Amino acid sequence: MTVHPVPAEWARRAYVDAAGQAEKYRRSLEEPEAFWREETARIDWIRPWTQLGRCSFDEADFGIEWFADGTLNVSANCLDRHLAEHGETTAIIWEGDDPSQQRRITYRELHEDVCRFANVLKGLGAKKGDRITLYLPMIPEAAVAMLACARIGAIHSVVFGGFSPEALAGRIQDCDSRLVITADGGMRGGKLVPLKANVDAAVAHCPSVEAVLVVRHAGNAVTMQGGRDRWWQDERAAVSPDCQPEEMGAEDPLFILYTSGSTGKPKGVLHTSGGYLTWAAMTHHYVFDYRPGDIYWCAADIGWVTGHSYVVYGPLANGATVVMFEGVPNYPDHSRFWQIVDRHQVNIFYGAPTALRALMREGDEWVKRTSRSSLRLLGSVGEPINPEAWEWYWRVVGDGRCPIVDTWWQTETGGAMITPLPGATDLKPGSASLPFFGVAPQLVDAEGTVLPDEPGVAAEGNLCITRSWPGQMRTVYGDHERFFQTYFSTYKGKYFTGDGCRRDEDGYYWITGRVDDVINVSGHRMGTAEIESALVAHAKVAEAAVVGFPHDIKGQGIYAYVTTNAEVEPDEALRRELVQWVRTEIGPIATPDAIHFAPALPKTRSGKIMRRILRKIAEGDVSSLGDTSTLADPSVVDTLIATRAG
Ligand code: PRX
Repeated sequence: MTVHPVPAEWARRAYVDAAGQAEKYRRSLEEPEAFWREETARIDWIRPWTQLGRCSFDEADFGIEWFADGTLNVSANCLDRHLAEHGETTAIIWEGDDPSQQRRITYRELHEDVCRFANVLKGLGAKKGDRITLYLPMIPEAAVAMLACARIGAIHSVVFGGFSPEALAGRIQDCDSRLVITADGGMRGGKLVPLKANVDAAVAHCPSVEAVLVVRHAGNAVTMQGGRDRWWQDERAAVSPDCQPEEMGAEDPLFILYTSGSTGKPKGVLHTSGGYLTWAAMTHHYVFDYRPGDIYWCAADIGWVTGHSYVVYGPLANGATVVMFEGVPNYPDHSRFWQIVDRHQVNIFYGAPTALRALMREGDEWVKRTSRSSLRLLGSVGEPINPEAWEWYWRVVGDGRCPIVDTWWQTETGGAMITPLPGATDLKPGSASLPFFGVAPQLVDAEGTVLPDEPGVAAEGNLCITRSWPGQMRTVYGDHERFFQTYFSTYKGKYFTGDGCRRDEDGYYWITGRVDDVINVSGHRMGTAEIESALVAHAKVAEAAVVGFPHDIKGQGIYAYVTTNAEVEPDEALRRELVQWVRTEIGPIATPDAIHFAPALPKTRSGKIMRRILRKIAEGDVSSLGDTSTLADPSVVDTLIATRAG
C-alpha cells in the first residue's frame, strides 16, 4: 500500500511533529487537567474555569460537563479580541455564485455588523436562551447572524437551505423558535433558491414564529407580511453599532443542529459554549496548522456542522481569513473551485469527497489549467474518501505537494476526532489515520466485546469512544433520554458512533461507513426512516423500505422499495411523482436514485423487514443473500431480484 511520508518541510515547520503528536496525545489522556489548562488558554474566559469536567457515560450518573464554572462569550472570542491588533485583517472573503461578485470584510467590519445584528435581534425581543432558526444562503450575513445569536446568548438552529418548507417547519416547531432569519433568495449554479417563499410556506404551520428577519441578497421579489417580516438592511441603520456580549456559562447552549439518525425524526444535537469553542479552535489550529496570514477555505455549507466548526467558529476564534463560497463546484464550469483558489490565493482547502469525485470524472484538464501554486494543505471530510479519489486529489489538485488531512468526525462530536496532523502523520490514502488529542477510540464486536488493541494486530468492528472530549454534544434538544438511548445504551459505558471501522497493524483507523440505518449521500446524512415516512405519507403508497447502495459520485445512493396500495397500478408516472414527492417533503438532497415497486417486502414471520436482504439486492449482489429460511414468504426475494431497479 502507498504511504505518503510527512514532507520534510512540514515536519520542520508544523506546530507538532510525530514525536510531539505522540507526547501530546499521551498527556491529553494521562494528565488531562494540565493538558486542558494549556489548551483552553487559547480562549478568552471572562471567569476562568476551575473544574475540568464531570463526565460519565454510565446510566447511573450519566452527564457531560466541561469547564463548567468558567464563563465566556463565543462571539467576543471570534471578534472583539482580534480588534486591537488585527482589526483590519480580512475575516471573510466572500465569493458569490456569480463569479463577478466578491466581498471582503475585515474583523472590524464583521464586529460592527454582528453588534448591529444582535441589537436588531434584541429589538425583536430575543434574549438569552431563546431559539432562533436560520435559513440562509452562504453569505457573510449567515456568519453574522450566528455570531449575533452567540453574542446575546440566543441558541441558533441553522437549517440547510436545501431543505423543503416541510422539513424547515418541523425543525422550527421542534425547538419552538419565535424568530426566523432568512434571505430573499440564494443563488446556486445560476439558479435561484426561493428561501423567503419557503419560509412563508413553513411558517404558515408554525404559530410560535412572531418575526422573520430577511436579508436582501438575490434581489428576487418576495412578499413581506406586515408586522411579522422586516428587512435586515433597513433595521441595520436604525440600531447602535455597540452591543455588550452576554456573559455565558461554559455549559450554556450555543447551538442546535438537526441531524438524522436510525429512527424517528431528526434529532436536535445540542452543543454548548466553552468546550465546543475550545474543540473547534484547537482542531482548526492543529489539523490545518493555521498560521496568521493564511487564506483558508472550507467549502462546506453553514447548514452542516462542518460549516459551523470550520467556516465560522474554529477559524474566526483563531483570527483566520476565511473564504466563503455561495455557489457550486461546477458553475460556470468545472474549474470553479481552482479558479477561486487562484483568485484569492488560498493556502488551505477543505472539501468533501463527493465534489472531488464529480470533478475527477470531468478530467484533469479543468484542474490543470489553473495554477493552484498557493495551495499548501488539503482536507477531506464528510464521508470515506476512496483511495482513487485521494490519489487524484493528491496528484492532480495538490501537484503531489500538499498533505491531505482526511478528518473523521460527526455532528455529535463538534470537531475532528480521527485525523492526520500535517507535520506529524504519514498518510495512507483512505485512512483518517490517528485519534486527535483527548480522543480514546475503541473497536467492539456486535456483542460489545472489546477487540484487542495491540501493535501489529489489525481489528475490525464498531467504533466507540470511551471518554468524553470537550466538543462532545451535550444532549438531544428537548429529549435527554433519547440522547442516552441513542448513543450510550448499545454498548454500556461507551459513546457509539454508528460507524464501522478497521484498525490496521500500524494503529491507523479506516472508517468503513455507517452500520446503522443512516446513509451518507454526497456527504449529507440521511435517515432511511425519514425517507420511508415521507414515502408512506403519499396516498398511493402502502409500505416503503429505503436502503443505501454504492454510487460512484455520491458515495451512497438512495434505493427505495415501494409497495403501492392494492388498487394502484405502479407505472413510470407514479415513479416520477414519488421522486418529486420526497423532494417536496424533505428536500432535493433526499431525491431517491431508484424506486423499486415491490408487490411485497421480505419479512420475518414476526413481521420485521429483512433489510440485509434489501441492501444486497440494491447493491446487485445476490450471490450471498445468506439465510432466507426465516422469511415468512421466501418467494418475495425471487420477485425482487427479477425486478431490480436501475
Ligand atoms: O459515517 C461518518 C461520515 O459522516 C458521518 C457524520 O455525518 P455528519 O454528522 O453529517 O457530519 C459530517 C461532517 C463531519 C460519520 O458518522 N464521515 C464523516 N467524515 C468522514 C466520514 N466517514 C469517513 N471518513 C471521514 N473523514
